Amino acid sequence: MISIEQIKEPVREEFMQFDQSFKKAFESKNEILSIVNNYIYGNKGKQIRPLLTFLSAKICGKTTESTINTAIALELLHTASLIHDDIVDDTYERRGKESVNALWKNKIAVLVGDYLLSQSLHIAVKTRKIDILDKITYLGKELSDGELLQISNAKNIMTKEDKYLEVIQKKTAALFSICTSCGAISVDANKEQIEKLNEFGKIYGMCFQIKDDIFDYISTEKEIGKPVGNDIREGKITLPLLYALNTAKESEKEEYTDILRKKEFTKENVEKLINFAIEKGGIEYAKKRMDDFQQEAAKTLEIFEDNILKKHLLLTLQHTIERNK
Ligand code: IPE
Ligand code: IPE
Ligand code: MG
Ligand code: MG
Repeated sequence: MISIEQIKEPVREEFMQFDQSFKKAFESKNEILSIVNNYIYGNKGKQIRPLLTFLSAKICGKTTESTINTAIALELLHTASLIHDDIVDDTYERRGKESVNALWKNKIAVLVGDYLLSQSLHIAVKTRKIDILDKITYLGKELSDGELLQISNAKNIMTKEDKYLEVIQKKTAALFSICTSCGAISVDANKEQIEKLNEFGKIYGMCFQIKDDIFDYISTEKEIGKPVGNDIREGKITLPLLYALNTAKESEKEEYTDILRKKEFTKENVEKLINFAIEKGGIEYAKKRMDDFQQEAAKTLEIFEDNILKKHLLLTLQHTIERNK
């Protein structure tokens, strides 16, 4: 499989500029902030979002300082959302290391997350583009909406696929669609280009979260650098289990719906639910849904001529679907 580093090749220059300013965004005179931010900056993620922003910008025109600031703002917003997500999910490992809430507890994690969110918006202003600001400032609402919807779905043992898709659209795909569309806006792309890239990012994000959800069933903590089995422990019914529950006969699933209803998420019961999802073909089903999305995504890029940027946008998606971490 092609590596992310290879996929980044056509936007290497942009990443060099990104690296310089991204580091600065974490600087602070406040003692606590400087320690915690330094830790966060030291554990960078895969940086898929800036990659998509740069490829989307460059397929429409020449990248500018606005493009770099867009990418920085969005990667900061993503980082802030993960810090808050680990508090919400009671998870203590992120990117192979202890999470911020694990090391400094919730109070500090909430405030540092807020700080980085505000820093994100502050940098977004530097793009000097109202359409980018409009999208980025709206995004926080979508993320919170998605996370809250997920909590309600878990409470009600929701097994409707469209409700699951609504959650992942809001908590994950919304950010990806803004990465791609704002990349395009940053280089003054036309309306059709912006719309198509927005759609590509949205579909990409759906695949990204389905894959992340699959990891929760069949990966290990060591491989992905964050806890596994955690979604189920929190009562979150993601696509593989949702499929199993929707296709099994009443008699087959009684035991499992019982665990979910009583919220008896012991280690043994979580394993039972995972095995049930796997045995009923839930993983294959989730993979099939990703494949459907991948085909849809390719169609959204048909308006663009075949070039290296289009190729690498599609390779990014391919990489996401096939990745092991
Ligand atoms: C994690 O995103 C959050 C999800 C949407 C599942 P990434 O897997 O892109 O996180 P990092 O930035 O690479 O750590
Ligand atoms: C990711 O949700 C979406 C957001 C961070 C808003 P998850 O809870 O599935 O992400 P991980 O698995 O902790 O990275
Ligand atoms: Mg989480
Ligand atoms: Mg997850």
